[in-house]
Amino acid sequence: MANVVIIGAQWGDEGKGKVVDIYTEHADEVVRFQGGNNAGHTLVVGNEKTVLHLIPSGILHKGKRCVIGNGVVLDPRIFLEEIEGLKSKGYLQDDSQLMVDGAVHLIMPYHVAIDKARENRTSDRKIGTTGRGIGPTYEDKVGRRGIRFADLLKPETFRRRLNEVLPEKNFYLEKYLGQAPLDADEIFAEYQGYAEQLRCYLGNVSTELDAAIKADKNLLFEGAQGSMLDIDHGTYPYVTSSSTISGGACTGSGVGPTRLDQVIGITKAYVTRVGEGPFPTELLDEMGEQLRAAGHEFGATTGRPRRCGWLDIVALREAVRVNGLTGLALTKMDVLNDLETIQVCTAYKYQDQLLEDFPSDLEVLEQCTPVLEEVAGWQQSINEVKDFDQLPQAAIDYVKQIEAWTGVPVVLVSVGPRRDETMLRSNPFA
Ligand code: GDP
Ligand code: IMO
Ligand code: MG
Repeated sequence: MANVVIIGAQWGDEGKGKVVDIYTEHADEVVRFQGGNNAGHTLVVGNEKTVLHLIPSGILHKGKRCVIGNGVVLDPRIFLEEIEGLKSKGYLQDDSQLMVDGAVHLIMPYHVAIDKARENRTSDRKIGTTGRGIGPTYEDKVGRRGIRFADLLKPETFRRRLNEVLPEKNFYLEKYLGQAPLDADEIFAEYQGYAEQLRCYLGNVSTELDAAIKADKNLLFEGAQGSMLDIDHGTYPYVTSSSTISGGACTGSGVGPTRLDQVIGITKAYVTRVGEGPFPTELLDEMGEQLRAAGHEFGATTGRPRRCGWLDIVALREAVRVNGLTGLALTKMDVLNDLETIQVCTAYKYQDQLLEDFPSDLEVLEQCTPVLEEVAGWQQSINEVKDFDQLPQAAIDYVKQIEAWTGVPVVLVSVGPRRDETMLRSNPFA
């Protein structure tokens, strides 16, 4: 019996959807604990691709319970669309497979309007958000003026909360952002329409997971975004607005830290980032283009091209520390198939200093240049390889070198988007 947390160890899009789908075989319940539909998690089963934004990536496995913990922010319209999409493909035939905690905060139309309008203002510092209203929703949660899922299901409470909040939002939208104000009656009618369709998913995730733990079940926690986008430990202010690190699994679900057994960080064999913000190993040349093309590096949520660069061990060691990683899952190794040599950043140069720790000061980070070490490529396709020992020696050496640089074992190697393009070296649930 084990409870395992999976988080992104970089700037998101590391392959969390795929890895969670693989590990769900060993789990009884899969838990989302933060973020919202800024996430885009891709699962490929056979020739069918599914992109999930809110529903845990265990949902393609019949009988596995998928729960959305209190730390998530939920846009009911997107959530319903996702449910419909899954049902039409033959998944989620039993509504009891899915549960949403009553304390989940709702993304409201004004959150989306504010997020988009801020990003479009040329005078403001652009973060390059996904425009899904994530930041403004978390602001209201912390500001104690949010509206929660349980409130939606009580029309009078919902109306009262809306009436309290909307005048301030409209003032800000109109007077500061130059946008049209929103109408309370319209929002109320729209959201009450969602309420009846969503009522069946209401639950208490903390007590649900406690009962599962007491019954010796295995829990799998699915992070969204990545450590470097964490509100506290990421490259602030170029971050998302939630706790993306492993600690967020506890606060975002109501499970205590003593219940967690393993924390697996997912890292690509290189690095990508979408949106603005520092990225020391970014490749702005042909090599960056080559990685983008080979890795199909375009956002699963917004379709934006992802910035690409060499693997950054300094940033990865930061992720090892803040998450307490017990294992690494290394994805997209196949994207490096054609390269004669591969570069890896093992330190940063800042002015005349050599930095081995990730700087917390953004202005320092922005001036860092990577110190690169070159390793040999394998120059052949590894997509068909099923056993780690059968990989070409240069690929094995790359994995072993990453273990040596980070001090963490690589427990899973992924060489393609599909389930069968995965090598499991050890099982975190064992
Ligand atoms: P997530 O947000 O962490 O779940 O990752 P995304 O789904 O946004 O992006 C990862 C992309 O890489 C998806 O299109 C996956 O299907 C794909 N993918 C995952 N693992 C591999 C791999 O090992 N090799 C290749 N070539 N693609 C992969
Ligand atoms: P998954 O779960 C990559 C980035 C945005 C932006 C910043 C803030 O698929 O890995 P937000 O809309 O959250 O306020 O945007 O965070 N970002 C992601 N980047 N993958 C994601 O999710 C992301 N979710 C948000 O691009 O830079
Ligand atoms: Mg993604």
